[in-house]
Amino acid sequence: MAAIRAAQLGAEVHLVEKGALGGTCLNVGCIPTKAILHVAEMYQILLNGDALGIKSDNVRLDWPAVLRYQKSLVSRLVKGVEGLLKANKVTVHRGHARLKGSGLVEIDGQSLEADAVVLAVGSDPFKLSFPGADLAGVIDSTTALNLPNPPKSLVVVGGGVIGVEFASMYRSFGTEVTIVEMLPQILSGLDGEIVREVHKDLVSKGISIVTEAQLEEVRMRGDVLQSRICQQSHTQELLSEKVLIAVGRSPCTDKLGLDEAGVFTESGRILVDEHFLTNLPHVYAIGDCSSRMMLAHVASAQGVAAVEHALGYKAEYFAHIIPACIYIHPEIASVGMTEEEARRQNLDFRVGKFSLSGNGKALIESGGKGFIKIISGAKYREVLGVHIWGPRATDLIAEAALAIRLEATVDELISTIHAHPTVGEAMPEAALDTDGMTIHWPPGLKKAL
Ligand code: NAI
Repeated sequence: MAAIRAAQLGAEVHLVEKGALGGTCLNVGCIPTKAILHVAEMYQILLNGDALGIKSDNVRLDWPAVLRYQKSLVSRLVKGVEGLLKANKVTVHRGHARLKGSGLVEIDGQSLEADAVVLAVGSDPFKLSFPGADLAGVIDSTTALNLPNPPKSLVVVGGGVIGVEFASMYRSFGTEVTIVEMLPQILSGLDGEIVREVHKDLVSKGISIVTEAQLEEVRMRGDVLQSRICQQSHTQELLSEKVLIAVGRSPCTDKLGLDEAGVFTESGRILVDEHFLTNLPHVYAIGDCSSRMMLAHVASAQGVAAVEHALGYKAEYFAHIIPACIYIHPEIASVGMTEEEARRQNLDFRVGKFSLSGNGKALIESGGKGFIKIISGAKYREVLGVHIWGPRATDLIAEAALAIRLEATVDELISTIHAHPTVGEAMPEAALDTDGMTIHWPPGLKKAL
């Protein structure tokens, strides 16, 4: 995105890539994961087709074909990126780049000079150190996308976004899954009610969740892995075919020459100012290598803002309006302030909520599971945060982000006509609930969340 935007603005752009174009998201992150999660959802729909009137005997998984589908999507998108770069006259250099100073980069021994440099080198799965970490069955999210078969059993260490998405994906394919999370809850940072409901839903689908627990050791026991888990003072052993480590990601900044060039970092993360400038003049850093929020759309927005700043334009980047999505079924999406944050900040705020069991389209698509919750300011009624658990949540969140961006009020959400039947109709209903005035929920009836 940064390269293309800079080219659009008239710069001569050189892009250096040592791997495949498109980075983590396209090659080993968002796209391949969502492709397999889509297959997982379809598989479950077909397995449970009776309720919809679909008789599909002998439904079974052709795993090599699933991987082929995933790879064909990735290669199509990588070709798309190549085509876009070419069409925008961006010169692509293949090789490993090192920063040699402000405006100077070395690619496998060859120098390249520029008025500005943008570092966008991404992150790698964090390597947890414990006895047994090197065993073949101990995998990370990249390997987990390329297994020869869905494992019979899987221990997932880390109940964050990656852990929960992979747990949900492999459970849909029949894997016995246990999530081991260090904190008292999975998916920390999300709206507490969503976390509680999703926790219950994952457990109802057969996923075991152990919280306040740490992995101490993994060893081979016959042909399976035995993980020792310590939960407060209690220790338990879990047997599984694979152990997936999903405890965060670390910036890939070690071979970039940052120390020699004098770029300031903190635990590997490149430090930047509000324009994404490092301490070196005209050297910017964006995305996972510098941001605390490791999300592809954050990197894209930062990349655009950085090159606009470098080329003398006024860039806009709204750090408080970043949607976050989790692609389990039903989906989770969230933007802006949570109820917990509003309480922590002692704000005078209101909460409006609507259960998707009162929404026709959500009933059609996922049995009406989920809800929309809107946090708004008590005085001016401006939308501060929107949190959704339900079908199409990851698309609906764009409306919520725009509402916050335009400083819209709950009244403006209410007076915006939403098409029928859509899950989006629940948005004005949740806004109406700010004053206890929902149309499609009987007054006085407890909301079935
Ligand atoms: P995360 O930071 O979201 O979650 C890591 C989890 O592991 C936390 O809950 C943490 O408490 C737990 N943990 C840490 N050390 C542990 C230990 N020793 N034992 C047990 N639990 C431990 O990181 P995650 O899930 O690896 O994702 C990395 C990044 O990628 C995140 O920034 C995430 O937002 C992003 N991502 C986004 C996706 C999306 O937008 N749908 C999909 C996948 C990743």
